[in-house]
Amino acid sequence: MAALKEKRTCAQRCEDFGYFVWNPDTKQLLGRTLDKWVYISLYYVAFYIVMSGLFVLALYVLLSTLSPYTPTYRDRLQSPGVVMRPNTYGDEGLLIVYEVNKPDSYTPLIHTLQNYLTPYNRTEQHAHYENEHCNGNKYFTQNEPKDPEQKLLSCPFYRSSLGKCSGMDNSTFGYPDGQPCIIIKMNRIIKFFPSGKGSPPPYVNCSMLKGEPKNLHNIEYFPPNGTFDLHYFPYYGKIAQPSYMNPLVAVKFNSLEKNKLLKIECRVVADKISADNIHDPYEGKVEFEIEIKNGTAVNK
Ligand SMILES: *[C@@H]1O[C@H](CO)[C@@H](O)[C@H](O)[C@H]1NC(C)=O
Ligand SMILES: *[C@@H]1O[C@H](CO)[C@@H](O)[C@H](O)[C@H]1NC(C)=O
Ligand SMILES: *[C@@H]1O[C@H](CO)[C@@H](O)[C@H](O)[C@H]1NC(C)=O
Ligand SMILES: *[C@@H]1O[C@H](CO)[C@@H](O)[C@H](O)[C@H]1NC(C)=O
Ligand SMILES: *[C@@H]1O[C@H](CO)[C@@H](O)[C@H](O)[C@H]1NC(C)=O
Repeated sequence: MAALKEKRTCAQRCEDFGYFVWNPDTKQLLGRTLDKWVYISLYYVAFYIVMSGLFVLALYVLLSTLSPYTPTYRDRLQSPGVVMRPNTYGDEGLLIVYEVNKPDSYTPLIHTLQNYLTPYNRTEQHAHYENEHCNGNKYFTQNEPKDPEQKLLSCPFYRSSLGKCSGMDNSTFGYPDGQPCIIIKMNRIIKFFPSGKGSPPPYVNCSMLKGEPKNLHNIEYFPPNGTFDLHYFPYYGKIAQPSYMNPLVAVKFNSLEKNKLLKIECRVVADKISADNIHDPYEGKVEFEIEIKNGTAVNK
């Protein structure tokens, strides 16, 4: 309980502050003499110049090591992700539910498919490439471009190769008949070769996860056997290959049980594609639930 400071009046405090701002006795401004202020300012100016120099240098070194064509870090992408259209979701992931007698329930689904396939119209792909590289089932490897202006070629993928699921002859994709089409796409991975030397090209194989296997007894794949032709690989990246279109596979389910929630898995099978990553259920495969309702059947 030693000496409490004596109480000071407000006027005294203001006077003290005035001395702090400018002390005429010691010639200090805000506690420092003017030449000290000059020194400290110069110090900080130099300090920030050096710091921003280091920052710019670090940025420059980083950017100069990046290739415009290929991401530097991509160790997470060992196998491509697989996506599906139509892509409507329920609580537990992809879920397609519609009623055969209610066009309102499936029109959005077939619109999704129509829109998704529009860029695959023949006329939309005139800038692509068609020659012997795009006929055979062989990788279409090209020399990487030397500068960003140089573009590589891409093989076109026409929707006509999706046959009954192309939406060209009949735009309903089988939905009103209870025999719906889905479309499967593999995401792009730069310079990815899905099949090893001498191995067959990747293909789609769908199987039942929940429901009778007979649901898949009548299943059609387009193109034939559900293959992704090797001439669509490898992909060289958006800058080098701006005209690239992902190849697609369509699956038509012709014998699905009605009024029953079924769970189906479609895998892309190839020796360089794994579909067993428990942390990523959409790596190398896609799982979805589907229920086709037929009100008439229920009411009878
Ligand atoms: C694409 O093709 C489909 C089916 O042939 C046709 O209905 C549609 O109008 C075409 N779209 C464009 C943008 O050409
Ligand atoms: C398309 O298929 C549906 C269902 O089978 C049929 O009702 C419709 O008439 C077909 N449309 C055309 C243009 O063929
Ligand atoms: C497709 O998958 C099923 C179930 O996993 C398997 O029994 C069948 O052999 C596969 N078919 C092909 C062609 O890979
Ligand atoms: C589809 O697979 C069968 C059996 O493996 C094969 O005989 C046939 O040639 C394949 N068809 C195409 C178009 O690749
Ligand atoms: C719906 O049920 C009716 C009556 O059982 C049947 O005639 C019709 O073929 C069914 N439709 C589909 C798409 O399964």
